[in-house]
Amino acid sequence: MKLRPYVIVGCIALFVILISRCTGRKEGTADPRGNTFAAATSCADCHKAVYDSYATTAHAKSSAIASAATVKGYFDAPDNVFHFAGQTDVVMEKEGDDLFQIMKTGGTPQAKYPFDIVFGSGRKAQTFLYWKNDQYFQLPISWFVPANGWANSPGFPAGHPKFDRIVPATCFGCHSSMVSVKEEVSGLKITDKFARREMIAGIDCQRCHGPAADHVDFHKANPAEKTARFIARMDTLSRIQRLDACALCHSGLKPMVRPAFEFKPGNRLEDFIIATVPFPQKPSQLDVHGNQMQLLAASKCFLQSQTMNCSTCHNPHVTERTSMQTFSQRCMNCHQPETPQFCKHTGQPSAILQQNCIDCHMPSLPSGSITMLTNGQQSPTPDSVRTHLIDVYEVMKGKLH
Ligand code: HEC
Ligand code: HEC
Ligand code: HEC
Ligand code: HEC
Ligand code: HEC
Ligand code: HEC
Ligand code: HEC
Repeated sequence: MKLRPYVIVGCIALFVILISRCTGRKEGTADPRGNTFAAATSCADCHKAVYDSYATTAHAKSSAIASAATVKGYFDAPDNVFHFAGQTDVVMEKEGDDLFQIMKTGGTPQAKYPFDIVFGSGRKAQTFLYWKNDQYFQLPISWFVPANGWANSPGFPAGHPKFDRIVPATCFGCHSSMVSVKEEVSGLKITDKFARREMIAGIDCQRCHGPAADHVDFHKANPAEKTARFIARMDTLSRIQRLDACALCHSGLKPMVRPAFEFKPGNRLEDFIIATVPFPQKPSQLDVHGNQMQLLAASKCFLQSQTMNCSTCHNPHVTERTSMQTFSQRCMNCHQPETPQFCKHTGQPSAILQQNCIDCHMPSLPSGSITMLTNGQQSPTPDSVRTHLIDVYEVMKGKLH
């Protein structure tokens, strides 16, 4: 029998798939990041409560493979259209399980781009990537929660849809747990090359706690041992080390000398970033987006207490946002009522002040860098982010002094 070309191609493809399945990871045990990492789901075996509550957090959902389940936003007319000036629209459409942004002029489709990757848990916004020729590009239309609608992506031109903004690996370094990158140097330019839809989505346990294969193996073999082994003990880290572990992603965009993925608890942030670039000097000039570390570090609370770090107020395994009572309780660990350390404001009774320290001393302020243009608007709407410069503010009117 004579084999036709497509049969041969088919056989080769099947062979390649089988080989990659066999030589890849050990089923169920290993992790694509290498054998120092335990399988991401293995933590659930012994830390079920932490694991389950963590799964609902913004960190866990900070990126995803695009699907109807992970992409927020409307795909049905008339809410699935973003109008640009003139005749150009971008229309969000669903075809089976696949989602697309389709550029149309006068209703006629011109070009069609798939949703491949989602960035953002959807607390405030989601932005989307499509993959082409080993590269990721940001799609022009994002989902903007405050407007409950589609919006032109931040920093994109207002007049027409832009489909050629390249997304570098650094975005994944803050929003995911792994993306396989091949770096290609062409001339002086370094381009990141990716395989389509291949990533460990979300920020997982081992991004903050470090590779944990030895920890899992040890505790599986020694179930009676109740003291953690082969894992960084958070309570033995210094204040700076604890802060650096969060500041890796919460001190804004900075040129990196090592990939953020390699950071482990105990490492120093200054070994990862280019130290010659100073952080902006004045806290009031810092954008509220992304700069939590610098803003906090400029606050009196931080400067005049020996211990304050992100965990003083945040439990990273639990979703606590919007619970102003919970956070105010944490302020009152240091600013106890009926003491000279308590609020000096005389305009309201103590019991009322105790309900919500946050909106007065850490108001949500508009970001200058993250703004979104929604349908029919002339100027973009800023995203509002909770400032970490703890101070005395006149609510909604910016700073008092
Ligand atoms: C076979 C059981 C087992 C598995 C699986 C396991 N752990 Fe643990 N882990 C323990 C025990 C026991 C302790 C010590 C008691 C405690 O703190 O809960 C511990 C403690 C910890 C601690 C606390 C360290 C400290 O500050 O004291 C962290 C962090 C941790 N594990 C992370 C992980 C991560 C991440 C995974 C998944 C990759 C994981 N563990 C999987 C058994 C396990
Ligand atoms: C690997 C990068 C990374 C690290 C490390 C990291 N974060 Fe985040 N964090 C993010 C990203 C990205 C978001 C935005 C998630 C989203 O909504 O899509 C976020 C969001 C948050 C939020 C808002 C969550 C909410 O529900 O409103 C808090 C609070 C936070 N981080 C605190 C921390 C603290 C505390 C640490 C250190 C213990 C930390 N982060 C470490 C990347 C990181
Ligand atoms: C954003 C960073 C971050 C992520 C992601 C994260 N943790 Fe933690 N974890 C911390 C910090 C910080 C502490 C120390 C908390 C403290 O001292 O108040 C901690 C403490 C712990 C502890 C010991 C204390 C406790 O609360 O039980 C365990 C166990 C633990 N983490 C397991 C996990 C597991 C399992 C996951 C994934 C499901 C995970 N962590 C994800 C930052 C993180
Ligand atoms: C240095 C770390 C870092 C890098 C790099 C980074 N982000 Fe973020 N991103 C964050 C943090 C932290 C937040 C949430 C806190 C904030 O807004 O201040 C966030 C928030 C977001 C959100 C809003 C999520 C929500 O639901 O509120 C989107 C969307 C997003 N980032 C997309 C991107 C894209 C696209 C890139 C690459 C062009 C990128 N980010 C690069 C750290 C980073
Ligand atoms: C770890 C202890 C600690 C925690 C927690 C804490 N603070 Fe403070 N705070 C201090 C110290 C110390 C000072 C400086 C001495 C003072 O003014 O009382 C301070 C100062 C302040 C100031 C004066 C700022 C200025 O520039 O004049 C305000 C306002 C304030 N804190 C509000 C808060 C709020 C709101 C919270 C909760 C979101 C909080 N603090 C949490 C310790 C803390
Ligand atoms: C003194 C208490 C306190 C400390 C310390 C603190 N935060 Fe927060 N943080 C808050 C409060 C309160 C909110 C508002 C929660 C809400 O709006 O529901 C918040 C919100 C956030 C958000 C979400 C902002 C937004 O509007 O999207 C991020 C991200 C965050 N914190 C990161 C950090 C990081 C990283 C650190 C350490 C550098 C830190 N925080 C230290 C009190 C604190
Ligand atoms: C309605 C808004 C409001 C609320 C709620 C509020 N504060 Fe204040 N706070 C102020 C104002 C305004 C001042 C400045 C008062 C003055 O100097 O006359 C102030 C002053 C302070 C100071 C002293 C600042 C200094 O200059 O030394 C601290 C500390 C403080 N507040 C902490 C808190 C804490 C903790 C809570 C929650 C328990 C809280 N505040 C709730 C508005 C508020």
